[in-house]
Amino acid sequence: MSDEKRSAWEMAITQLENAAKYLPKDKDWLNAIEYLKHCQRMLSVSLPILMDDGNIRVFDGYRIQHCDVRGPTKGGVRYAPQVDLDEVKALAFWMSMKCAVVNLPYGGAKGGIAVDPSRLSRNELQRLTRRYTYAISDMIGSLKDIPAPDVGTNAQIMAYMMDTYAMIARNTGEPAHGVVTGKPVDVGGSLGREAATGTGLMYVIDAYCQRKGIDLDKQRIAIQGFGNVGSNCALQLAGYHQCKVVAVSDINGGIYSDDGFDVQALEAHVDKTGSVVGFMGSKKRLTNKELLACDCDILIPAAVEKQITADVARLVKARIVAEGANGPTTPEADGILEENGVVVIPDILANAGGVTVSYFEWIQDRDAYFWDLERINKELRRVMVAAFEDVLRVAQERDVTMRTAAYIIAVERLAKAIILRGIFP
Ligand SMILES: NC(=O)c1ccc[n+]([C@@H]2O[C@H](COP(=O)([O-])OP(=O)(O)OC[C@H]3O[C@@H](n4cnc5c(N)ncnc54)[C@H](O)[C@@H]3O)[C@@H](O)[C@H]2O)c1
Repeated sequence: MSDEKRSAWEMAITQLENAAKYLPKDKDWLNAIEYLKHCQRMLSVSLPILMDDGNIRVFDGYRIQHCDVRGPTKGGVRYAPQVDLDEVKALAFWMSMKCAVVNLPYGGAKGGIAVDPSRLSRNELQRLTRRYTYAISDMIGSLKDIPAPDVGTNAQIMAYMMDTYAMIARNTGEPAHGVVTGKPVDVGGSLGREAATGTGLMYVIDAYCQRKGIDLDKQRIAIQGFGNVGSNCALQLAGYHQCKVVAVSDINGGIYSDDGFDVQALEAHVDKTGSVVGFMGSKKRLTNKELLACDCDILIPAAVEKQITADVARLVKARIVAEGANGPTTPEADGILEENGVVVIPDILANAGGVTVSYFEWIQDRDAYFWDLERINKELRRVMVAAFEDVLRVAQERDVTMRTAAYIIAVERLAKAIILRGIFP
């Protein structure tokens, strides 16, 4: 099957099977791998919403828990038109792997609604979010399953989710703050969470460059997707470091400038107009495919899955691909990048900064004691660099890519938990 037709879930299973080749072959381990090929709980819901014009529209929503053997499940909620069961399953699986790579006491989950949020009014969006939270409320809880933002959702959506859950949980007296992370700071959110995925990505790129003797400040960066992850990573790389961000894109297309963009001015432009396209510093328009193949040193896919397919991989000029998005590179493309000497810092490591600071937020909510930003970023760097060092060590010891190494570590941790707990009943 061509890699473009392969579903995100099939991609995830291929990645699991690649890692399984390096793990023990006895019965317990093979059973654990089989266990991980399935999602534990999957809920599909229909969400009837009274639109502002008085008509009803019914949206499809999902919440999927992949595996809770290492702790309560955790994962974002995506609002995007293409969301379906298959995509949410893959995203839930990747969350299990990610939490295991950075060694957080969580399993993986994900949720989503098939909707283009930009076409809904603020009130419609609030009604949809509250109805969705109500519909999945049996599954979630601060010690069960904890949602967070993803594509198309943000801190405001998390505040609506927390408030709705609090209304439902009122009679049980269950505290509601820890039911979602990525909330606004004013309602129990954590400092640094908004920027955490981009910041964590920068820490991992920095750690890689330091290990390989590459001067990060001199690297030219291209970023696909200028939302939460892409824009925060751009701000860090151009601000904290002095990298040139030469290309950026969003769903409307991309822009390129050899001289690099003023990222703060670009961010202000996006806040005002909703897109990177048309930014005054841009010299050249690009399609998203052209951006992935543009002249740069580090390519950061930070949009959606399956962007670097086999065809695209052959055109990639960057020497490093640092995956901000989940699942941006297909298994076939991985092989081509490896053959061409392009290093991939894999999603389950590279973008784990978001769930790591979500974990810090969850701890702060449970303790009702809040940390300052310096502590958050210091702990985030510690977690990200330790995970990176583990992945690099396994990659060198086993002579495999960093993706396979990250999966070996994650699957090993998950399989050990499955074997130790045993299979119920
Ligand atoms: N938000 C987080 O904390 C977090 C954490 C880990 C991983 N991720 C992953 O990072 C990626 C981006 O998430 P985000 O939170 O920044 O989302 P976002 O909604 O804030 O931004 C997404 C960006 O990608 C663009 N985009 C969407 N579809 C596109 C397409 N088909 N082609 C090109 N551009 C497209 C959008 O226009 C926007 O600029 C996703 O894969 C998400 O799962 C997010």
